[in-house]
This record gives sequence, C-alpha cells and structure tokens, in this order.
Amino acid sequence: MEKIVITGNGPLRGEVRVAGAKNAALPIIAASLLSAEPLQVSNIPGVRDIDTALKLLTLLGCQVERSGTDLAIDTSKVHSVYAPYELVKTMRGAILLLGPLLARFGEADVSLPGGCAIGSRPVNEHITGLQALGAEITIEAGYIKAKAKRLRGAHFTFDIPSVTATENLLMAASLADGTTVLENCAMEPEVGDLARLLIAMGARIDGMGSSTLTIAGVERLSGASHRVPPDRIETGTFLTAAAATRGSIRVLDTNPDFLHHVLGKLEQAGANIVLGPDWIHLDTGGKRCQAVHINTAPYPAFPTDMQAQFMALNALAEGSATVVENIFENRFMHVAELQRMGADIELQGHTAIVRGRERLQGAPVMATDLRASASLIIAALAAEGDTIIDRVYHLDRGYANIDLKLAGLGAIIKRV
Ligand code: EPU
Repeated sequence: MEKIVITGNGPLRGEVRVAGAKNAALPIIAASLLSAEPLQVSNIPGVRDIDTALKLLTLLGCQVERSGTDLAIDTSKVHSVYAPYELVKTMRGAILLLGPLLARFGEADVSLPGGCAIGSRPVNEHITGLQALGAEITIEAGYIKAKAKRLRGAHFTFDIPSVTATENLLMAASLADGTTVLENCAMEPEVGDLARLLIAMGARIDGMGSSTLTIAGVERLSGASHRVPPDRIETGTFLTAAAATRGSIRVLDTNPDFLHHVLGKLEQAGANIVLGPDWIHLDTGGKRCQAVHINTAPYPAFPTDMQAQFMALNALAEGSATVVENIFENRFMHVAELQRMGADIELQGHTAIVRGRERLQGAPVMATDLRASASLIIAALAAEGDTIIDRVYHLDRGYANIDLKLAGLGAIIKRV
C-alpha cells in the first residue's frame, strides 16, 4: 500500500494550480444519464472518485472517452440501471445515479452506500424526495430499487439541506411531468453549477442560489458542453497549508467567490490575502498564525470539508480555539493522528478544543478519510522530522497530484 513521506521543512512558497472540483464533477457526470445526446465536459479532475464514477457509467453501457481533463460521455446505449455495491461502497457520490436513472429509464437499482469513516450518512432525504415525485421505492438486500413510469412534479421540503439529495431531486424533477418546488435545498456552489448544466441541456429551473428551487419538468433534455468549476476545497487546502507553514503562495485557476468564509478565517488567523479574478495570494509574512474558532455549517457558512485542515492550522497556531463540527457526527478521526504528532486537542462531543503548539513532531500516522488526510499533510509540512502517512488512497480520491503540487511549492514529499 502506498505511503507518503514528508520531511517538514518550513514555509510553502510559489504558485500552484487547482483542478476542477470533484464534488461539482460527480453530479455533472451523473446528469449525462438524463439525455440520450452526448455531454462534453472539460476541467475534469484526475482523482479516483471520478475514475469510479466513470467505471460505473461504463457498466451501465455508456461510452466514455477521457483525454487529460476532457471528457465525452455518450449514454445512447445504456442497457443497465444497476449500480453494484462493490463500486458504490468506495464512493458515496454514486447515489447521484439514482435520480437520473429513475427519471430517464423509469427504474434504478442502486446499492445503499452504507456508513463511512465520517459518520453514518443516511440517504433518507434522497428516498423520501423521490417518493414525493411518485417513485415506488423498496430496499432489498442492501439495494435501493426504484420504479416510476414517469415522475410527477410535487412540492417537497428537505428536513436537512443535503447537497447530493438536492442534486438528485433537481435532476429527477427536470424530467418529471409538471412543476416541482423543492424547499430547504442545499445552496452549495456545486448545486448551482449542476443547475447551470441542466439549463444548458434544456431544463427549466428558477431560484438558483436560493434554498427554494422551482423546476418545470420537460419531456427530454439535450446534450451540452460544460466546464467544471475550480475546486474550492483544494484551493482552501493549499491556502491553509501555506498559512500553517508560515509561507506565501498564489493559488491559480481558482474562484475566490465561493471561499468567503474560509478566506475570512485565514485573515483572522493573521494571513494577508489579495484576490484576483481567478487567483488568490496568501502571505503570512513569515509569522505564526493565531488560532481561530471554527463552526461548520451548510454553505455559505464554514464548510465541513475544510474543518480538518483548520484543525491542523490551529494545532500549530498561537493561542487556543474551538472547532465545532455540526454536519457529520464522526468527522474527528484526524484528531487522534494529530495527537500522535504532539497536537494538544481535547474532544468534548462535537467540539474540539485546540491549544496551539509552536512545533509538532513527525510521526507515523494513518489517513482515515479524504479531508483527514489533508490535515495530516498540513501538520507534516510544518512538523519537525519525518511523517509517514499510511492509507494515502483516501487522499487520491479527491486531490489530483497533491504530492507533485506540494513539491512544486518547496515541500520535501515522496510516495513510497
Ligand atoms: N443526511 C441525512 N439524510 C440524507 C442525506 C444527508 O440525514 O438523506 C445528513 C448527513 O448525514 C449529514 C448532512 O445531512 O449529516 C449533510 O450531508 P449531505 O447529504 O449534504 O452530504 P453529501 O451530499 O453526502 C456532500 C459532499 C461531501 C461534503 C458534504 C457536506 C459530494 C459528492 N459530497 O456529501 O464531500 O462533505 O456534501 O458539504 O458532493 C468530501 O469531498 O470530502 C466530502 C465528504
């Protein structure tokens, strides 16, 4: 199994380009199933979750051509609506196939994703939402079996603003008979990006960017071309790594608009930030950051996907701060690993109290999920000595070439 070895050597400096957003690309790929015409997508990130999504599409009978960051999907010969457990269990985003398969083919047979390291992560919102649109759904032997001759428009309010459930319902409602009103929708930028693609395919959607979406269903959708937006979490991860190592970096090919809360916290920590149209420059002036309080919540508040990285920043900062995780009940697996590196963190339920240390020490540690891996990388870059990070496949699920990109910023990092 591959490991990453990092020798802590101080400040990150230089420029780095971010890839397209994994969590935007996954619903775009699923949306290709809504039309028999081809979909062209650019800026696809080279990460393992995308490989898994494309493997699933191929199993269904789609023709997939990928060349660098460009992707073409032809769904005209789909012969199956079955998404097997073996693939779904490795990537919960596969639940995004449920809505499009049901809407276009009248049935879907998608494995329940099961739990994962960050929490139990149920899919009840996806199921009750599709039932509200008239789907008959049963759970049999770990699979969601859904049927509907044609979905019908309905009024549905989410109990929780779930990102992928909002995306599933948005896709399904686009092909339903009549108008659907979805309330308490997730407002993450990836939802808005999916809505933009669906509109380009011929969908009629109102209320983009708000928590209420109104979708007037159409009979069929057409092909389209789409560019995946920059990854806001990859952007935030590099900026936080630079802040933790007292560095100065410029992140290119990004969009500062979707990062207000994260950038505000980095400024509060003491970093100087300058924004361009598609770049962000962060400079710590060589100074150690101040600890900052973090409270995760749905967009536009502080993202749960940046919580672990800020935990590492706080562990190295001056002063102490609390980090409260409000989205996932078990997203503190990185704490025990950071403690192995000397971090002073006390857990009280879903709150972590972090007392910053001047230095952490390198140690053998284990990655437990995607963003937890990123926090270990950040701690390792700033630590004294070598850190060996095991189970780096978690990292490769969502960060394209992170080792090469960090090496380009001066880090001493290798895969073994
Ligand atoms: N929830 C339910 N029932 C549901 C769906 C969600 O109770 O049917 C709960 C979840 O357990 C959680 C909360 O609602 O407590 C929010 O979860 P959400 O459904 O929004 O998460 P998701 O759609 O499964 C996406 C991202 C995650 C990101 C979350 C929150 C994708 C493919 N995944 O997951 O990304 O953390 O939204 O922003 O878009 C990551 O990239 O590392 C990652 C985990």
